[in-house]
Amino acid sequence: MQDLLPLCASSDLVDGGRAVPFDVVFAGMTCRAFAVRFQGQVHAYLNRCTHIAMELDYQPDRFFDDTGNWLLCATHGAAYRPDTGECAGGPCRGGLVKIELSESGGVVRWHTAWNLQPLAF
Ligand code: FES
Repeated sequence: MQDLLPLCASSDLVDGGRAVPFDVVFAGMTCRAFAVRFQGQVHAYLNRCTHIAMELDYQPDRFFDDTGNWLLCATHGAAYRPDTGECAGGPCRGGLVKIELSESGGVVRWHTAWNLQPLAF
């Protein structure tokens, strides 16, 4: 079953700007995730580098490189495409785990999946 859960306001995500962090349970483990806007569209991924399972951002919520075209892992420089999470260079192996988002009425929502659930409160 898929649920749509409110994540943030549309205006919180600026093209190439700061990410909005959120927490998910992925495959039974609590993980950090983040949402960004790139070329007008919203995208979200687990905050986990595919090189070594480390968080990508060394400064909170900053993932884009200076050009605003790549999501970078601050540790060893793996680069990912903001729209697909695909590995584009550096030591990454495979792409980031993508989380489906939708945007309507000024609200961004994330979609749960069989292996992706909200934290239990
Ligand atoms: S941990 Fe991300 S590039 Fe090595």
